[in-house]
Amino acid sequence: MAPRFGVPPAFLLLLLLALDPLHRASAQAAGRPSCPGLESGSPCGEACQAAVCGALLDFYDASGGATWRDAAGWPDLARQGCAAWLRAAAPAAPAAPAAPRYCWRGELAGVACCLPGRGERPEDAACPFPWSLSNLSLMNNNLTAPDGGARAWAALGRLAACGLRSLVVQGNQIAGPLPARLPRSVEGWLWELDLSENQISGTLPPGWGAQLTQVRHLRLSRNRLEGPIPQAWGGMRRLEQLYLGSNRIQGRGITGTIPAFIGALPRLKHLNLRFNKLTGTLPPALCDAARLAAPGGGLEVLHVSSNRLVGTLEWMAGCEDLITLDLGHLGT
Ligand SMILES: *[C@@H]1O[C@H](CO)[C@@H](O)[C@H](O)[C@H]1NC(C)=O
Ligand SMILES: *[C@@H]1O[C@H](CO)[C@@H](O)[C@H](O)[C@H]1NC(C)=O
Repeated sequence: MAPRFGVPPAFLLLLLLALDPLHRASAQAAGRPSCPGLESGSPCGEACQAAVCGALLDFYDASGGATWRDAAGWPDLARQGCAAWLRAAAPAAPAAPAAPRYCWRGELAGVACCLPGRGERPEDAACPFPWSLSNLSLMNNNLTAPDGGARAWAALGRLAACGLRSLVVQGNQIAGPLPARLPRSVEGWLWELDLSENQISGTLPPGWGAQLTQVRHLRLSRNRLEGPIPQAWGGMRRLEQLYLGSNRIQGRGITGTIPAFIGALPRLKHLNLRFNKLTGTLPPALCDAARLAAPGGGLEVLHVSSNRLVGTLEWMAGCEDLITLDLGHLGT
C-alpha cells in the first residue's frame, strides 16, 4: 500500500540497524503510590490530603511561586495554609468522599484530580484512589528553579507518591541540568513529563531509562540539551511521544546517532528530533509491519529535519499511518 504522503525525493541512503538488545531490559512492575495514610483501596484521606497539599506548597515555593504569571488560587493556599484547604467540601456525588479544596474545579491553577467514579478520562481509569492528584500543568507560567530544581523535584516525588502521573511545565524559565535520577516514587508510575521550552542544559540522564518505564509522553524540546540519546532509554517501552527537537536553537543540540531502540518502541506515534546534530540514519524499523499491526497503529508524526542524517527512504513505504513528515535540511 502506498504511504499517505509524498516521499520527498533524493534523500539518500539508509542502512539497516540491528535491533537493540537493550529494549528487553524494560517493563518493570507498575509503581504503587506510597502516600502517607493511604491504604490500599482507601480514598485520599486527611493524612494523604495533607501530604499532597504540603508538597504542592513546596513545589510552589521552590519554583518561584511569587513570580508565577498565572497563580490563580496558589497565593490563597500559601496564605491560608493547608488546614483551611482540607476541610471536607460538598462532595460531587453523595457517595463520593469529600474533595479537598485543591481538587475543586478551577480553584488551584493547573491542578487536576482523579474523579471518583472513574473511567471517562484515561487517567481516571488508572486512578489509584478517588481524589488523588493526577495532573499538574503549569505552562507558560514563569516558573523558575532557583536552587537548580532540587526542591521542586523532591516535591514532584512526594506528589507522585500520592498519585501524580503528569507534570507539564512547558514554556517556563527552568534552567540547569536534568537530575541524574528522578525521585523513586515516579518509577514505573509517571505517564507524562513535559519540560519543553525552558532553558535546561546538559545531557540526557541515562538513569531515567530504568525509571520511566511507564512514561507515554516525554517532551524535552526547545531547551539547551546536548550529547547523545542514551541507549538506556530503551527502557521507556511505553513511549508514544518523544520530543527532543530544537535543542540546537539556543544550545549545542543532541548529537550521535539515533539509537535503534527508537525504531523498536512498540507504541511510538510522535517522534520529534528536528534541529539537532544527529548523524547516521533513521531506524528503518520505525515503520515495520509489527509496529503497524500494533494496537493504536503505527507512527503518525516524524520530525527529523535540520540534522545531519543520511539514508534512503524505501522503508518509508511501510509508514501507512504517517500524517506529518518533516525531513528538510537533513544535511545541515
Ligand atoms: C518572572 O520571574 C522573574 C523572577 O524569576 C521576575 O523578575 C519577572 O518579573 C517575572 N516575569 C513575569 C512576566 O511575571
Ligand atoms: C492528565 O494527564 C494525562 C496523562 O498524560 C492526560 O491524558 C490528561 O489529558 C491530563 N488531564 C488533564 C485534566 O490535564
